[in-house]
Amino acid sequence: DAHNTERWVSTTKVPLHDSQGLVSGVVSLIQDVTELHQSREQLVQSDKLAAIGTLAAGVAHEINNPIGFINSNLNTMGKYIKKIIEYFEENNISIDDDLKDIIEDFHDAIKESSEGTDRVKKIVADLKSFSRVDKAEKESVNLNDGLDTTLNIVWNELKYNCKIEKDYGDIPDLYCYPNQINQVFMNMLVNAGHAVYEKSGIINLKTWADEKNIYISIKDNGKGIEKDNMAKIFEPFFTTKEVGKGTGLGLSLAFDIIKKHKGTIEVTSEVGQGTEFIICLPFIGIENEQA
Ligand SMILES: Nc1ncnc2c1ncn2[C@@H]1O[C@H](COP(=O)(O)OP(=O)(O)OP(=O)(O)O)[C@@H](O)[C@H]1O
Ligand SMILES: [Mg+2]
Repeated sequence: DAHNTERWVSTTKVPLHDSQGLVSGVVSLIQDVTELHQSREQLVQSDKLAAIGTLAAGVAHEINNPIGFINSNLNTMGKYIKKIIEYFEENNISIDDDLKDIIEDFHDAIKESSEGTDRVKKIVADLKSFSRVDKAEKESVNLNDGLDTTLNIVWNELKYNCKIEKDYGDIPDLYCYPNQINQVFMNMLVNAGHAVYEKSGIINLKTWADEKNIYISIKDNGKGIEKDNMAKIFEPFFTTKEVGKGTGLGLSLAFDIIKKHKGTIEVTSEVGQGTEFIICLPFIGIENEQA
């Protein structure tokens, strides 16, 4: 089209016959179905996200059990090894250095393993609260917690690239769809992670509130957005990323979710300096909406 963007069309052709039954022409109907195509793709994408959420929650649930008994066994083993050391000391049994080393290593190994299982437990808890398949409903939540939970999930993707700076305000809870709001945070955090330059990247997270709204700023010091692209970033399928790295749906989904909550997203960006997204969510967003 005039903007040089790809359009999807549906065509129907019907032959015209003359009195002898010979084809004398064709009636051709061309319909622009770009919007339909896009909304279908978006639906597929959100279906996919929902499926991933269900899967993640299922896996999290399954991991919980074995982690529980591994943890409790490790605790018991830690206590036993302490008892053994005490026994040697109380009975003045001198042990040679090799055995001493082994016992010390054993003790350290148990301690490290416990820290490992603690970490797994935390990730599982975060995954569960992130996907919230059990609670894909409206709820009052604190968005500072939502940011932290989401951060834990995407940390693996971010940790090599950047530092996170937090400047959380004392904000009231918001009645919202927490799983969807977390999805918005995730899409923006991943974008910020992609935008920053290795090692020197900083992502700044800030929250505050006034009487009417909660504000969340997600700011990076990355490569920024070209002026010409600013108007397009919320369009479905707009991406500047290479094939396989981006589908261009992250921000369009974020936009839809925030719109559903009657909020807004503001962007400021400077090429080479960085980008800031400010999400504004009104307290009276979905409050009176019928389920
Ligand atoms: N923090 C940012 N810094 C620089 N550019 C950004 C930033 N966030 C978004 N963009 C630009 O906006 C485009 C669209 O972002 P969007 O999240 O919708 O899609 P994507 O990240 O390319 O792909 P997807 O999120 O579907 O994996 C990006 O390709 C990028 O050019
Ligand atoms: Mg993205």
